[in-house]
Amino acid sequence: MKAATAELIRRLDGLVPKTALVLGSGLGGLVDTVSKPSRISFADLDGFPQSGVSGHAGEVVAGRIADAPVIILSGRAHYYERGDAAAMRTPIEALKAIGVERLILTNSAGSLRPEMGPGSVMQITDHINFSGTNPLIGEPTDRRFVGLTNTYDETMLADLAAAGEQAGVDLHRGVYMWFSGPTFETPAEIKLAQIVGADAVGMSTVPEAILARFVGLDVAAFSIITNLAAGMTGDELSHTETKEMAPKGGERLARLLAAYFERAKP
Ligand code: HPA
Repeated sequence: MKAATAELIRRLDGLVPKTALVLGSGLGGLVDTVSKPSRISFADLDGFPQSGVSGHAGEVVAGRIADAPVIILSGRAHYYERGDAAAMRTPIEALKAIGVERLILTNSAGSLRPEMGPGSVMQITDHINFSGTNPLIGEPTDRRFVGLTNTYDETMLADLAAAGEQAGVDLHRGVYMWFSGPTFETPAEIKLAQIVGADAVGMSTVPEAILARFVGLDVAAFSIITNLAAGMTGDELSHTETKEMAPKGGERLARLLAAYFERAKP
């Protein structure tokens, strides 16, 4: 067993979460909904990335939401930090090794749909990998040929949508397009994204979804819309805006997740 996995199990102290969450920029407030949290810094877990992005704490928080055991990765590493698309491989493999079966990914994103404005929550139904890279490049085994026809699990999507309805959260559905970042897109790139069928754009999540399918986790994912994408308004985009706007949609997503854990006891 890898050191990080053994350390996680020791620190979980008998808690056996089947569901894990990855929280994106400015969404760290969701951990406040966890009861009796144990906190483990990524720095104490071998092979876990040290995220250098402000708004990303870099810790594991384990506890319960609505009585269901949960483990949260608060903070993630992004491809644009070091050019490593597989930066989240060790954490995702560790989740699988401790018995997690389902992974819920979250991110902040720009919207391509004027009616899906800042503060909206979008359930990701599929993605477009526009980064030019893949976290499984270099994986030497035939396991690298992962089918992505059903990346986002139908049952989880349905259960989470039902939870959204119960919680009174207006849930959008759409396709997320992964740009490498760290720059925001140009207006021309956003026009391209619209033409190829994307509904939101962002700099994360796709590598984690691929890695999760690689290890055999069921995946669901949500975008919190922090802005309309480049060129859709007269304004320049900024990370400050992302961090300021994320908690607004984050509060809605927290309500949805509380209802999910209450209903499904996952
Ligand atoms: N583009 C890429 N990533 C983002 C955006 C955006 O407009 N907003 C928040 N994260």
